[in-house]
Amino acid sequence: MLAKITAATLVGLESAQVEVEVDLADGLPSFVIVGLPDTAVQEARERVRAAVRNSGFVFPQKRVTVNLAPADVAKEGTGLDVAIAVGILVASGQLAAEGLEQSLFLGELALEGSLRHTNGILPLVSNAFRWGTRNVYVPESNGAEAAIMANVQVFPAAHLRQLLLHLNGMESLRRARPPEADADDAVVYDVDLADVKGQEHAKRALEVACSGGHNVLFSGPPGTGKSLLAQAVSSILPPLSLDEAIDVSKIYSVCGLLQPDEPLVLKRPFRAPHHTVSHAGLVGGGRFPRPGEISQAHRGVLFLDEIPEFPSNLLDMLRQPLESGNVTISRASGSLTFPAQFLLIGAMNPCPCGWFGDPVRMCTCSPGTVTRYQRKLSGPLLDRIDIHVEVPRVDYEKLTDDRRGEPSAHVRQRVMRARQVQRERFAALPFKTNAEIGPRHVREFCELEEAAQNLMRTAMDRMHLTARSFHRVLKLARTIADMAEADTIGVPHLAEALQYRPKLDTN
Ligand SMILES: Nc1ncnc2c1ncn2[C@@H]1O[C@H](COP(=O)(O)OP(=O)(O)OP(=O)(O)O)[C@@H](O)[C@H]1O
Ligand SMILES: [Mg+2]
Repeated sequence: MLAKITAATLVGLESAQVEVEVDLADGLPSFVIVGLPDTAVQEARERVRAAVRNSGFVFPQKRVTVNLAPADVAKEGTGLDVAIAVGILVASGQLAAEGLEQSLFLGELALEGSLRHTNGILPLVSNAFRWGTRNVYVPESNGAEAAIMANVQVFPAAHLRQLLLHLNGMESLRRARPPEADADDAVVYDVDLADVKGQEHAKRALEVACSGGHNVLFSGPPGTGKSLLAQAVSSILPPLSLDEAIDVSKIYSVCGLLQPDEPLVLKRPFRAPHHTVSHAGLVGGGRFPRPGEISQAHRGVLFLDEIPEFPSNLLDMLRQPLESGNVTISRASGSLTFPAQFLLIGAMNPCPCGWFGDPVRMCTCSPGTVTRYQRKLSGPLLDRIDIHVEVPRVDYEKLTDDRRGEPSAHVRQRVMRARQVQRERFAALPFKTNAEIGPRHVREFCELEEAAQNLMRTAMDRMHLTARSFHRVLKLARTIADMAEADTIGVPHLAEALQYRPKLDTN
């Protein structure tokens, strides 16, 4: 007897339908799975055989052949366990086949028969409706995540026995309810801007960065609040829209970062990889490619603390994603693209000992060491960072001042207003923020008032700006003008943008 069950496998962040065909024939008992890589087959066989027995059913004493079609899709083993087990029970007549054509089975089995948490369930379910699926069966801990896809009915099951009782019509599983999507007010951020004392200049820079999507580099001596400022950034970025939240949740799901109690990610990601991160860990990769830190930071922040400590070849990997907002990973069977649109925030000390330029502590580095340290960041990378800010020592009075600064919630309101201005301006264009304006549109959108044109001319001469930095300054000035709700860029806007340029222009 032949049974056909629908399952799915991941291809990057997308899902591909997999047909699990099970055939039982007379002959010496055996269990063959075709269509999976060798080691995965071995493991799937052991799990399925034990789980079926431990659920109170009989594993057929026949020649069992399982075919996973289509053959040309590389399949990942574990999420197919449940579908294989269900197929074997249908083929052996222990389970009725009616109604299963419109069902999708996902999940890994434990030897004793329980359904284990499986990574990637959200993207696996996301195409199900298009395949004609009405009912989706998933492990219990993946229920809420799967239910985000409102166009199918999701039934979470803790144990294979429970699932089979449901399919046999003896005991019903409860449908999973989709998570609440409008609970952004309840999101609590670890660091609020009000927690950072002093550093008004850096806070302003951070607000400009968030308003226009510009990357930032903080530089200053140890313990002045650079890491603290970076951590506060999530609290002033606008909340995720539902579409953005689903995109981020899919990436988290595939990477196993999704929390069962927070199936829909409402907080903007904040990823802070250590400088010992591997190449694949940062940009993504692996046998079945997984998104790396830069994709996990999609729609959020990538924070590189102590940025000169990162190997320069790793930093150079960021150049393409910073430009295009995605990353392409090639592998034998073609290439995959993961989204990677993030705000880059870097932090560094000005020299290895940390005190170069500090008015109180002496720097113990030789001038050569200082230069070499600062040169570790390559020109092309620095060039993609529009805002360079010094974060100096905070004096005693400011640090012990009990008055709280402006809370993040207020700053965020302004950021959202500035973003709204940009959205309206770019309504018919593919960019959302000023940082994304292409070279063709700079002149059109970044018009300077006459006095500002004179200032720009002087700055070009004095600061030796190149054409490229000229454009970047204009875009930054555009953001500052938007924050002031000004139609054209005036002298104060341009002057502020110019002072965010690095001291040594790298171009
Ligand atoms: N401006 C500040 N306001 C309030 N607390 C601060 C400030 N600066 C530093 N601190 C305190 O010092 C701790 C360390 O700050 P932080 O980690 O941000 O320093 P840093 O500038 O990143 O230093 P490093 O260069 O050593 O990484 C913070 O957790 C906080 O307790
Ligand atoms: Mg730090």
